[in-house]
Amino acid sequence: MDLFEYQARDLFAKHGVPVLAGEVIDTPEAAREITERLGGKSVVKAQVKVGGRGKAGGVKLAATPDEAVARATDILGMDIKGHTVHKVMIAETAPEIVEEYYVSFLLDRANRTFLSIASVEGGMDIEEVAATRPEAVAKIAIDAIDGVDKAKAQEIAAAAKFPAEVADQVADVLVKLWEVFVKEDALLVEVNPLAKVASGDVLALDGKVSLDDNAEFRHPEFEELQDKAAANPLEAAAKEKNLNYVKLDGEVGIIGNGAGLVMSTLDVVAYAGEAHKGVKPANFLDIGGGASAEVMANGLEIILGDPDVKSVFVNVFGGITACDAVANGIVQALELLKSKGEEVDKPLVVRLDGNNAELGRKILTDANHPLVQQVDTMDGAADKAAELAAAAK
Ligand SMILES: Nc1ncnc2c1ncn2[C@@H]1O[C@H](COP(=O)(O)OP(=O)(O)O)[C@@H](O)[C@H]1O
Ligand SMILES: [Mg+2]
Repeated sequence: MDLFEYQARDLFAKHGVPVLAGEVIDTPEAAREITERLGGKSVVKAQVKVGGRGKAGGVKLAATPDEAVARATDILGMDIKGHTVHKVMIAETAPEIVEEYYVSFLLDRANRTFLSIASVEGGMDIEEVAATRPEAVAKIAIDAIDGVDKAKAQEIAAAAKFPAEVADQVADVLVKLWEVFVKEDALLVEVNPLAKVASGDVLALDGKVSLDDNAEFRHPEFEELQDKAAANPLEAAAKEKNLNYVKLDGEVGIIGNGAGLVMSTLDVVAYAGEAHKGVKPANFLDIGGGASAEVMANGLEIILGDPDVKSVFVNVFGGITACDAVANGIVQALELLKSKGEEVDKPLVVRLDGNNAELGRKILTDANHPLVQQVDTMDGAADKAAELAAAAK
């Protein structure tokens, strides 16, 4: 989960990283009172989860409360790289900025380690610096066990050639940022710019944090950080039911057991769709190993609730949970939905294979549901599901 700048700022403050005051608003007029409180001037900053806000005109200085209201009026509703600005942060103005640095910690998947990236040439052109003069950007691997203590932080600051007068302060910031990274279970913490101001102090003026969704179970507070307005309603409903669901933009609803099988089902359906008006998979949904009637019903309910879905392909490979159990699950799920008044009204193509496939198929044949048909091969079933979706399109 990527955070907004103001949320990153809050996490930085919690761990002692030096930041400036700021408040988030969604109506321009609210900028006046905050700016007055900040001493009559402020910086109005678009809160969107995309970089380059400054260059896009989403970060503006305001010299008076009136100007802050005017800048907030300009920026609210603006489109920055496809992201509409719904909120702005009214931030304290940094005292004269002398230099802008870049520092970050991230998970380096390719090297199976953590990485620190630091440069004394931070600011709005860091991407260009990294591309044209990679020697100006230091990359230091971080051992997961040892982490970042003051000595390691000093090593990073030295590698990036921070000037002596700020090196110690930068090292302190790095230690605290590493604390944010570990304690908050982040995959990325980035400060750009980390600014040196006229007084000689170093301040984090912008923050980017991405939290690890897999750590959600030990962070009940993650829930509040979610941008509910931006979430897809079907995905939100699926999440509430603990389903692994991703909405896609096709017409064939997909249910499978096991992420690998579902991924290949998406490929097979996309391929089959080429011969049927170009229909595509409407979603990814992995109901996992258990595949009980309840999980199956929850999955069907989400998929059938998607108005784009014209047919559903249930692709199950029986393993520890055998096909007869899954077939019973499907039958019970159809009854469960009927009793809830959500009777299935779209054709369902079921392919059962693997452990106890024959018994499973017999259970579905005996149940004789008018909208359920079985095809024994994955390719054949994908083709049938695509054909039915195309017919209803
Ligand atoms: N509170 C602030 N006070 C003064 N200048 C700021 C402040 N916040 C940002 N800036 C200036 O605006 C530039 C862009 O802002 P930033 O928050 O880094 O947005 P982005 O990286 O999305 O362009 C910064 O490099 C900095 O020079
Ligand atoms: Mg920035």
